[in-house]
Parts: sequence; C-alpha cells; structure tokens
Amino acid sequence: MKTAIITGASSGLGREFVRQLSEVFPEIESYWLIARRKERLEEMAQALPDKTIECLGLDLCDPMSFVVLQEKLTAQHPEVALLVNNAGCGYLGNLGEVETSAQTRMVDLNLRALTAVTNMTIPLMPRGGRILNVSSIASFCPNPRMTVYSSTKAYVSSFTVGLAEELRPRGISVTAVCPGPMKTEFLEVGRITGNSKMFASLPYCDQVRVAGGALRAARAGRTIYTPRLFYKLYRCIAKVTPVKLMVKLTKT
Ligand SMILES: NC(=O)c1ccc[n+]([C@@H]2O[C@H](COP(=O)([O-])OP(=O)(O)OC[C@H]3O[C@@H](n4cnc5c(N)ncnc54)[C@H](OP(=O)(O)O)[C@@H]3O)[C@@H](O)[C@H]2O)c1
Repeated sequence: MKTAIITGASSGLGREFVRQLSEVFPEIESYWLIARRKERLEEMAQALPDKTIECLGLDLCDPMSFVVLQEKLTAQHPEVALLVNNAGCGYLGNLGEVETSAQTRMVDLNLRALTAVTNMTIPLMPRGGRILNVSSIASFCPNPRMTVYSSTKAYVSSFTVGLAEELRPRGISVTAVCPGPMKTEFLEVGRITGNSKMFASLPYCDQVRVAGGALRAARAGRTIYTPRLFYKLYRCIAKVTPVKLMVKLTKT
C-alpha cells in the first residue's frame, strides 16, 4: 500500500498537508502521522475515513523516537511514496540570552530529526517517491535574533539540493518549500508574537495555499519552491548581495 509519512501533522502547515494530500496524491492510501499530541492526530484521522491512518505520538527531539520509528518501518515495510518533513520550531532571541534547551531543540527537531527520518525512509522509497522538506525564507540569509533557526533552515535547503542530486538516479525527487511567516502556533511557541518588529511588518503566507503549492511542487519534482512573489524576489536579492550586507537588514 502506498504510504505517506508526515511529521508535525498535528497543527499549522502539517495539518494542511494532511487535509490536502488526497487532492494532489490521490493514489496514496495510507498516512502515518507523527507529532507529540497524538489525540490531535486521532481527531484528524476521524475526518479521513477513506484512508488507512496510523497516528504515532512521538517526540522527535528524543532519539528513542528514531528507534521506535525504525522498528515500525522494519516490521511493516511500507512503500513510502511521500515523506513530508514538516515538524519544526523557531525561538526568537539572541544566543546567550535564550535558554540552552530552546536553542538545542531547534537543532534536534529541524535538523537531526529531519536527517534521521529521511535516512530511515529512503530505503523504503520506490522510483517516483518524493521527499518534501519544510524549510523557510530564513534559509536564504542568516537572521540575527533567530540565528540558530535560520542556520537550521539553511541546512534544510542545502540538504534538499544535495539529496535531490543523490537520489536523481533512483527516480526520487526532493523538494524544499521556503515559506515566509504564517499565522500558526509557531509564532506563540517561538515567543515571536509581539516581540518582533520584522515579523509584524512582513507580508504573511497563508498556510492553506503554501501546503497546496508545496504538494504540487513536490509532485512536479521541483527542488526549491518559494511561495509569494515578494519572497521569490527576496531569494534572488539574497543570492546576489554579499551576506555581510544582507545580515544588516534581516534582523528579526
Ligand atoms: N509559521 C511560520 O511563520 C513558518 C515560516 C516558515 C517556515 N515554517 C516551518 O513550517 C513548519 C511547520 O510549522 P508551523 O508553522 O505549522 O508551526 P506549528 O503549528 O507550531 O507546527 C509544528 C508542528 O511540529 C510538531 N512538533 C513540534 N515539536 C515536535 C517534537 N518534538 N516532536 C514531534 N513533533 C513536533 C508539532 O506537533 P506537537 O506539538 O503535537 O508535537 C506541530 O505539529 C516548521 O518546520 C517551521 O519551521 C513556519
């Protein structure tokens, strides 16, 4: 049975990926949903009665979750047609001023978990398989006051481009979606709301449109997908402008 694995499926963009998945990938019959809040995943499962849904309540910051997932993959051997690495978090604040556990959580979730889940899933992907990584406009240039977050997302975008080349001979595509700010729990979790002039002034992306666009970009095998013209232009500017100059303008 063709299976999709979606991390961070319990809210925000992840929820939208699950909701819209069957429109873009109607052939996928089984979804594995991963997040800590299992009860939310179960609620979503009830709204999708025509799909076979597994709800995995895993904390991806805990390395034991990789053991649990690997064991399940080995036991069930699903045909993974789509992996969506969506779980992520971003804390606002200077290094040295935010607690160490928050700084390292971004590394553990955005980078280590994404790497681990991808590595254990690739052997189960057939030709035509797709990996969709949720990156950010923060990957285009470092963002002071979110230095760790922007660095983790630079990894996600770079990882995507490298992996896309590695997997090309196997007919598997890898896509990074790079959204601007979206009104999701991310802003509260990261203590951003009310604390960042930059976030208050930027144009927002709608997570419903981002999810649909990203799924279609993955289906089309695109490597980088940036929603909204404003952020496409930002990406071009960040490419041609010296980073030491850019970073004067990109403080969150
Ligand atoms: N919102 C923005 O402004 C924005 C902009 C650009 C990129 N992004 C990226 O978009 C992605 C989705 O974020 P969102 O905006 O939808 O935020 P969100 O609503 O806070 O969703 C984050 C998801 O990640 C899951 N998650 C968090 N910690 C986890 C852990 N330790 N183990 C397993 N799952 C965990 C959460 O579920 P549980 O809490 O139930 O575990 C939730 O489902 C992230 O990668 C984020 O970096 C967001």
